[in-house]
Amino acid sequence: MGVHRLLPATELTTWGLSSRDRTASRGVHRLLPATELTTLAGYEAAGGGEALARLHDLGPEWVLDQLDAAGLRGRGGGGFPTATKWRSVRGGGAEVGTRYVVANGAEGEPGTFKDRTLLRANPFAVLEGLVVAARVVGAETAYLALKRTFVTETALVRQAIDEMDGAGWLDGLHIELVLGPSEYLFGEEKALLEVIEGEDPLPRLVPPYLYGLFSTAPQLGWSAGAGDGDSSNPTVVNNVETLAHAGTIVANGAEWFRAIGTEGTPGSLLVTVSGDTRRAGVAEMAAGTPLRTAIDEIGGGVTDGRAVKAVLSGVANPVVTSEQLDVPLCFDAFGAIGSGLGAAGFVVYDGQRNMVGVAHAVSQFLHVESCGQCPACKFGTGEVTARLEQLLVEGGQPDAIDTVAARLRSVTDANRCYLGTQEQQVVASLLATFPDDVDRVLAGDPGDPVPPVAPITDITDGTALRDERQANKRPDWTYGEQPLSSLVRRRQAPSA
Ligand SMILES: Cc1cc2nc3c(=O)[nH]c(=O)nc-3n(C[C@H](O)[C@H](O)[C@H](O)COP(=O)(O)O)c2cc1C
Ligand code: SF4
Repeated sequence: MGVHRLLPATELTTWGLSSRDRTASRGVHRLLPATELTTLAGYEAAGGGEALARLHDLGPEWVLDQLDAAGLRGRGGGGFPTATKWRSVRGGGAEVGTRYVVANGAEGEPGTFKDRTLLRANPFAVLEGLVVAARVVGAETAYLALKRTFVTETALVRQAIDEMDGAGWLDGLHIELVLGPSEYLFGEEKALLEVIEGEDPLPRLVPPYLYGLFSTAPQLGWSAGAGDGDSSNPTVVNNVETLAHAGTIVANGAEWFRAIGTEGTPGSLLVTVSGDTRRAGVAEMAAGTPLRTAIDEIGGGVTDGRAVKAVLSGVANPVVTSEQLDVPLCFDAFGAIGSGLGAAGFVVYDGQRNMVGVAHAVSQFLHVESCGQCPACKFGTGEVTARLEQLLVEGGQPDAIDTVAARLRSVTDANRCYLGTQEQQVVASLLATFPDDVDRVLAGDPGDPVPPVAPITDITDGTALRDERQANKRPDWTYGEQPLSSLVRRRQAPSA
């Protein structure tokens, strides 16, 4: 069986730029082709379908061994080993009930636009990986979850499912497209299961690989089913990029996957760069590429020749400083500097920004998006946001910092999901790493305004468009007439 890649490695292609500006260097084309592959014929001509052929010939255990050997780790943020997840769901035995697979395309991490870029450029690669996952774990129904607002991706995926079905690629597997709400928590895997079951995105207690979709075992969810007989229905939830990588590993083998990347993070990554850079974009790079290279080659460097002051890896990990920009893009190296690779979505802040303002913007986003099931999370993020805002508006209130520190210590108490930890890690790291910025704010100088933190809705001609409605979103998930933050309201008010 011939070994081939979807497309050969050539130059870096930065999506989100006009085609004239796309080309730079160091890129790979394993998942993101140089031009979109949106028909089954085009996908097949580029090597698509090989994963299903090999699965058919060599079987699920061979697939799991390849994924293990390839060392694929989840690209949804946590970096969990994919083979371990699939094996645990496959291995439960018949008594656990029905198994399911879910492709997580709910992408809502601020600073990330790689899943939508992948779905636009290569939807069949995601679907082929999803079919492989379903076959390996023995699922007869698979779900692909997108936000209702992802109109372009929904149309492409729907058409791709139809084409694959028509060509017999699904072989009886039912793939259901689930269109969910705009809330950040929709992407959290335990909340995602709730949405698929028709509920609001409120995370359950137990992870999907233990108690999955339509589980009747006691899974302590918000609306746990109390059906007869215990059926835990273990469910694989994988990020769409992870599934696409899985397909290429099955098609080309573990050794091919490991030909680029690092020992701990083999393969390529879909990287998003935005913020105070000359441009925003998404590109596929070998894992291990320095963060600085991603900022320079995808982002074109920092705006107006200024210097990088700090980089946030989504809103889920401690800050990366300007001294740490040579950190390789891999899970281990980011862990070693005390941060996290997350979903490889990087927001760059230049020297004009005060990091207390950034901490406030992140905290407000997390407070608004917190679902409130855990009091320490909703209350703590709210208190931190309010105190930071008070500092930024009124200056010198040293006790405000003590209150923020106290809330950050307890914001994770008895939490169902990771959101409270995100608040703790991002806000605490910003305040601890930039004490001079805290002093400046206490002295009444809040620096340049920081834009509200919000999901990217598109990247066109190098500009990242952000969800403008986010600024007006209230902590009860309704939308007000005005921005929630008085800092933003002041900026928008016409001057007298
Ligand atoms: C608040 C929150 C939001 C998340 N949003 C997403 C998301 O939009 N997309 C995603 O794939 N994973 C998201 N995750 C991670 C998922 O819970 C889950 O770990 C992931 O889908 C597993 O896939 P992987 O193993 O392929 O990484 C989020 C997690 C948290 C705590
Ligand atoms: S930690 Fe926060 S966001 Fe997560 S379930 Fe609890 S209240 Fe909701």
